[in-house]
Amino acid sequence: MSNESLANLLKEERRFAPPADLAASANVTAEAYEQAKADRLGFWAAQARRLSWETEPTETLDWSNPPFAKWFADGKLNVAYNCVDRHVENGLGDRVALHFEGEPGDTRTITYADLQREVSKAAHALTELGVKAGDRVAIYLPMIPEAVVSMLACARIGAPHSLVFGGFSADALATRINDADARVVITADGGYRRGKPSALKPAVDEALTRPGTENVRSVLVVRRTGQDGIGWTEGRDVWWHDLVDRQPEQHTPQAFDAEHPLFILYTSGTTGKPKGILHTTGGYLTQASYTHHAVFDLKPESDVFWCTADVGWVTGHSYIVYGPLSNGATEVLYEGTPDSPHQGRWWEIVQKYGVTILYTAPTAIRAAMKWGDDIPAKFDLSSLRILGSVGEPINPEAWVWYRKHIGADRTPVVDTWWQTETGSIMISPLPGVTETKPGSAQVPLPGIAATVVDDEAHEVPDGHGGYLVLTEPWPSMLRTIWGDDQRYLDTYWSRFEGKYFAGDGAKKDDDGDIWLLGRVDDVMLVSGHNISTTEVESALVSHPKVAEAAVVGATDPQTTQAICAFVILRGDADAQEEGLVEELRAHVAKQLGPIAKPKRILPVAELPKTRSGKIMRRLLRDIAENRTLGDVTTLTDSSVMDLIQSQLPAAS
Ligand code: WT7
Repeated sequence: MSNESLANLLKEERRFAPPADLAASANVTAEAYEQAKADRLGFWAAQARRLSWETEPTETLDWSNPPFAKWFADGKLNVAYNCVDRHVENGLGDRVALHFEGEPGDTRTITYADLQREVSKAAHALTELGVKAGDRVAIYLPMIPEAVVSMLACARIGAPHSLVFGGFSADALATRINDADARVVITADGGYRRGKPSALKPAVDEALTRPGTENVRSVLVVRRTGQDGIGWTEGRDVWWHDLVDRQPEQHTPQAFDAEHPLFILYTSGTTGKPKGILHTTGGYLTQASYTHHAVFDLKPESDVFWCTADVGWVTGHSYIVYGPLSNGATEVLYEGTPDSPHQGRWWEIVQKYGVTILYTAPTAIRAAMKWGDDIPAKFDLSSLRILGSVGEPINPEAWVWYRKHIGADRTPVVDTWWQTETGSIMISPLPGVTETKPGSAQVPLPGIAATVVDDEAHEVPDGHGGYLVLTEPWPSMLRTIWGDDQRYLDTYWSRFEGKYFAGDGAKKDDDGDIWLLGRVDDVMLVSGHNISTTEVESALVSHPKVAEAAVVGATDPQTTQAICAFVILRGDADAQEEGLVEELRAHVAKQLGPIAKPKRILPVAELPKTRSGKIMRRLLRDIAENRTLGDVTTLTDSSVMDLIQSQLPAAS
């Protein structure tokens, strides 16, 4: 970015007050901000006491060697005990922990007592395979209960897990096994994807032929699809049902130091080798648990929580496994895609289980908008009381659609900003406190210090933009990049001295609320103005004919960069309609000002997305600049790029 701060273009005036009944009985009220402000560390020490410790910590934060933090360092606890056993001991063994819904429609109901038995058996099984505290276990599974059980079993015996998303290739898996030096891999024969079994085990077999994976002693295989043709290596491979099912149902959890490693999770990143983000035990669980309680206002005795992420992403770690289960929640675990076998599948699940809190991503919301309002309208969604969003900036129009068509114009929408690195939610409205603004994550949570700075690290005044930074350590912060302290320093702590650089552009509005503007690499420089791709995309999506938009800056001799937009039209709009592109350009100019008017607008049928649903602007930039495409291997569907190219008018 240049010295000039981000152009502050978007004016969003809609406001939504918290519902009175929700505000009156909210888990967390405005007082929490005051308490945390008066004594930040005291506030976090109090949140740590929401957990059950074998040895209560007397220390809160050790920041004597920044940026290497230690939280609650003299405390000891077991994460699995906190997520499972203590609820059973509190008489809640019969409460449903997981309502599992498989893609083919098979279901399983798992209570906390069931979960305790399953996790105990799996912990014994891992021990039998020789896994000891500190050994790394790679988990490459579909969204089935065994994924949750495996994670908790690892946590129970102090073996850090490293989940690899089931959609990743053998190569990606091999790199991650190698970097973490994993000793065991837990996988399945396959999972179900769009009505068909999709194999996983062959990718493990292939990964284990690569150099650097020799230390994998055992592969534990869940039978999910029963499909044929999955190779078998005697002496290394073992069926879950053979090994786990014969283990004792009782297992005594051992307490670990608060700073014992809990998991490594790789962020794909756009460049360089994946970074193994390391999270530890006490601080991570404290913040995952508190934020789930605060941001979703969870009432464990009556709510049904559903986070639609995959457990292979951090969202699944913190808001399917550790946050909800530490709070004794009842939740939905769904294996499949939102449109299989039909585009109403999610809404059918909400209706079936009476989901009260739904947490999903903007990409899914925009897909639902595109499929049409009539689809969710066919289902009874009246159980819903809170909606959440995460993963990308949410366009105001998508936010309003979500609230209106899913939340009956009644439920608060919480737009939660955080990262794999932050471990838990950092910036978000509180549903019983904050008057929400569509498109803004708004305020740092109690106990969190975030702001926006300019190139010289000075905090920008209200109404200005710059870079998002975190100015104080937080309990669930990454502790380092696995095996690479220097990269940890360089990536996050060297851009602005003493501050954590998140890599996101952001602005503060006139009230001081924070708006996220996308990754810093995605900010465009047009005639000396920094313009956010997010804002131009949101302006396009606010036009009734546009469902989704991706904006990039293409090198331009006159203006440094020129704005180039790829748009997906809504169901009934016609890409050939005369004057459509002019109409959209004029609409953006009216919304944001003439400086933000796209030079080119190209209607397309699909956009390239990563497997976690983020638009890959880098590839669109290649197209806009008539270059050969870069690496497409992390795309969900690489044929999308061929499709886009075939639809383009001859280079203008
Ligand atoms: C990046 C982190 C956090 C779980 C999923 C993503 C973007 C995330 C928001 C939001 C605007 C957001 C940021 C961030 N992001 N949430 N509410 N508003 N942007 O985890 O893969 O580590 O990605 O996602 O760019 O830096 P991740």
